[in-house]
Amino acid sequence: MTNPPLVLGIESSCDETGVAIVRGTELLSNEVASSVEAHARFGGVVPEVASRAHLEALVPTLTRAVATAGVALTDIDAVAVTAGPGLMGALVVGVSAAKMLAATLGKPLYGVNHLVGHVAVDILEHGSLPSPSLALLVSGGHTSLLLVHDITARIVTLGSTIDDAAGEAYDKVARVLGLPYPGGPVIDALAQDANPTAIHFPRGLTARHDLEQHRFDFSFSGLKTAVARWVELEQRAGRDIPVADVCASFQEAVADVLTAKTVAAATEYEVADVVLGGGVAANSRLRALLAERCAVAGLRLRYPSPELCTDNGAMIAVLGAAMLAAGLAPSAITLGADTALPAEIPLVA
Ligand code: KG4
Ligand code: ZN
Repeated sequence: MTNPPLVLGIESSCDETGVAIVRGTELLSNEVASSVEAHARFGGVVPEVASRAHLEALVPTLTRAVATAGVALTDIDAVAVTAGPGLMGALVVGVSAAKMLAATLGKPLYGVNHLVGHVAVDILEHGSLPSPSLALLVSGGHTSLLLVHDITARIVTLGSTIDDAAGEAYDKVARVLGLPYPGGPVIDALAQDANPTAIHFPRGLTARHDLEQHRFDFSFSGLKTAVARWVELEQRAGRDIPVADVCASFQEAVADVLTAKTVAAATEYEVADVVLGGGVAANSRLRALLAERCAVAGLRLRYPSPELCTDNGAMIAVLGAAMLAAGLAPSAITLGADTALPAEIPLVA
């Protein structure tokens, strides 16, 4: 029996330079170099800083990925790369490197969608996705409910955020509370031993009149403002801010809305399988509450290990491998980066 194909995946859409190698759906290496510390003092990703960091990190990360996998570059059967969405200057570093590698090795190039990669990465740990599956994609830049018929070719967006993404709300609330960037992991940790019912924060787009127009859409900007206002009023009154309780209460509001809408969409579209993906999918409360509500609704739930939720090359490599396995035509060598690539386009021609 011949070995499944070896696929190299490159991710550089935001502040993580990721390079991974898979053999079919088996992960051989997954190297990530993060420039997060360079952005921390700015409270968010600075595009120019990210681009430069990708340029510096790409070759060393690639070298490590190849060494860890114990393969030679010439053994690679295909090269997959994030073609979008993301920051232009960051994306072009990965896309250029992937084009150069594919051209020199004489191997096919697959320019794939970062958002779809966040969903596809679960295949590495839990096997192929049942069709259809409902994906809740929650990251720093996106929050969407996707009906996934075929991860390589047919995805329908049922709803998405109309303002901030869930991860963005975490990062902004962290800033209000004087916590470091990125806020997600810090808030998650602080919330562990705190009271999620201490303060009632609003659940965006859940009122009856909002549900008519935005049944499966999300809004986190009002929640972020509500937290900021609450903190400001307490400070003005000269009271100490119960940071951990604010974290837990904010987190509860986010997890409540995300999980309620996911279960409602799965029920309405009669989808029995739910998959969680994206950086915020690492959140412990979101995972626990979604598991609880899916169980009550009779839905099967799957999610990747926390380290595979945040940006990495494995999600791109496994999606590329799926494209190859599906016999899809590779991308043109003139492939460009698309900063606003919609989730409906898993593969860029
Ligand atoms: O998917 P990702 O790595 O990058 C994007 O594609 O945006 O997501 C990054 C986001 C950040 O906003 C970060 O605060 C959030 O994911 N995040 C978390 C957790 N870990 C990362 N949010 C909540 N809880 C976490 N444990
Ligand atoms: Zn991401």
